[in-house]
Amino acid sequence: MAAEHAITVTERLTPADLDRAAELLRAGALVAFPTETVYGLGADATNEAAVAAIFAAKARPRFNPLIIHVIDEAMARRLVIFDGRAAALAQHFWPGPLTLVLPRAPGCPIPLLASAGLDSLAVRVPGHPLPRALIRAVGRPIAAPSANRSGRVSPTTAEHVLDELDGRIAAVLDGGPCRVGVESTVIDLTGPLAALLRPGGVAAEAIEETIGPLDRAPASEGAPRSPGLLASHYAPALPVRLEARTVHPGEALLAFGPRAPRGAKQVRWLSRKGDLAEAAVNLFAALRALDRPDFTAIAVMPIPEHGLGLAINDRLRRAAVRSA
Ligand code: TXA
Ligand code: MG
Repeated sequence: MAAEHAITVTERLTPADLDRAAELLRAGALVAFPTETVYGLGADATNEAAVAAIFAAKARPRFNPLIIHVIDEAMARRLVIFDGRAAALAQHFWPGPLTLVLPRAPGCPIPLLASAGLDSLAVRVPGHPLPRALIRAVGRPIAAPSANRSGRVSPTTAEHVLDELDGRIAAVLDGGPCRVGVESTVIDLTGPLAALLRPGGVAAEAIEETIGPLDRAPASEGAPRSPGLLASHYAPALPVRLEARTVHPGEALLAFGPRAPRGAKQVRWLSRKGDLAEAAVNLFAALRALDRPDFTAIAVMPIPEHGLGLAINDRLRRAAVRSA
């Protein structure tokens, strides 16, 4: 049901726009929308054909499961089985940038395709008012991966979405730039030890304060438990050089903190004050902006490995892996 060009609905959204988007989703079409983390590519999660259309539009491998977006914990509990840890995390961090992987509930209405055949399911309650209004209007859970082509950098503006998906989606709701800038933190609660599958918008430290120590290994392993965490991901066309303390000839520089080395053909600051939350907001837009043939590579200054720095460094390490 993709239109020739996606309908763009701008920031000043009317109730009629929302109804229209909800109608498209109920009819099985794909609608992109902002969340507090990144833009998502939404489809009715209970409609198998619509879910299949997400994989097709993104050219996403079918082994990579989707996150199901719900309005609240009660709606999540109709899809997955909660335990005490899940309840505590939901209480603390929902609505917000946290995704929980839990066992499917009996009679779960989400097709297996959405979870790539797994008997677990990833659920999240978004914090942004727009997807919340949309889920309410549709009255069904919405499956939504990031609204980029598979393997590319996640979109943090409606324009980024159209750059990669125009012609493949029915509409995009434009809510301006995303507030967090990196995707949700994904926590696997299907085993006895809660595992950090993907660092993201909620700091791992904050999660550990709530439910105790996390198994942090999955997020850094070569063969991850989260099928989506392929080593080469978020891939700009240019090589990405990490931990750069000097600039090589021809390079563009992604800078962090007040002092940047000289000599870059162009500099983009993630945060001049060295603020990790600000750096997260700017990360994906900066990678897109510097990914131009005018440069030989993107050099990236060191980013501290704590708080949101975990998510930023995770995305940068994946961006630095060259695909075969
Ligand atoms: O912030 C976000 O999470 C955004 C917005 C749109 O909500 N969504 C997002 O979705 O980043 P996506 O599809 O780009 O990433 C989903 C991640 C993947 O790494 C996937 O492998 C993992 O969640 N995942 C989903 N279901 C899973 C499951 N059942 N078991 C393990 N990992 C799962
Ligand atoms: Mg993604």
